[in-house]
Amino acid sequence: MKNLRKVEIGIIGGTGFENLLENARQLRLGTPYGISPPLHTGKIRGKNVVFLSRHGPNHSVPPHKINYRANIYALHKMGVARILATNAVGAINRNFKPGDIVVPHDFVDFTKLRSVTFYDGDLVTHIDVSQPYCPEIRKLLVETAKRLGFDVWEKAVITCTEGPRYETPAEIKMFRRLGCDVVGMTSAPEAVLARELEICYASVCYVSNMAAGIQKRLTALEVSKASESVFPKIEQILSETIETLPSERNCPCANALKRARLE
Ligand code: HPA
Repeated sequence: MKNLRKVEIGIIGGTGFENLLENARQLRLGTPYGISPPLHTGKIRGKNVVFLSRHGPNHSVPPHKINYRANIYALHKMGVARILATNAVGAINRNFKPGDIVVPHDFVDFTKLRSVTFYDGDLVTHIDVSQPYCPEIRKLLVETAKRLGFDVWEKAVITCTEGPRYETPAEIKMFRRLGCDVVGMTSAPEAVLARELEICYASVCYVSNMAAGIQKRLTALEVSKASESVFPKIEQILSETIETLPSERNCPCANALKRARLE
């Protein structure tokens, strides 16, 4: 950890966002869960930021194979106290349209194969997720998006599927009945792992497609093309939100471990 400059703000997203950083440097960190993907450190609007690309270099790691624990732990090790994430999502709610920006307030986790906790030893820990996303960062993301003149859904329930396949129409119908608005493959367990380490976490999502059964068929290329066209908006929202983040945290995330254990 010698010579490791402390960086308080992390961005997790798809490939490309490292271009937002000035004077970027790259490193990888060892964690108890494996080696992290490349971490790009640099400045955004004068603040030290680290960017981590979930899918690794060249988008080579599928959603169900992402080492979520190594990713979050590496950011923690760098001193990150706040994570701003971004995810591509399909719209389940018919009022949401491709290109829309969404700041989810809650999630339903339908993943099956992922390591979902840092606490699977004898330090039994039940983290509270009554407010799964950091309320302070969520508020700033929404305010920033509005100030920039973008249409933004300020509340939404996101569901996370295991992937890597897209969903069936019947699954999407079920998710809609359960109250889910959007679907992606990477939101869980990222938010929970961050909370387990008392890191603030919120996500600004963008709708890349209507979910299965609403549009005729889904292609990965379509999702990737739609993502590229909203990237400039997401980049602007992230940069301006980072600029306006107050230096002190005014949210419950920093004390998430208090009262999470029976000791
Ligand atoms: N389903 C799951 N993940 C996604 C989708 C989708 O429709 N669009 C973008 N990521």
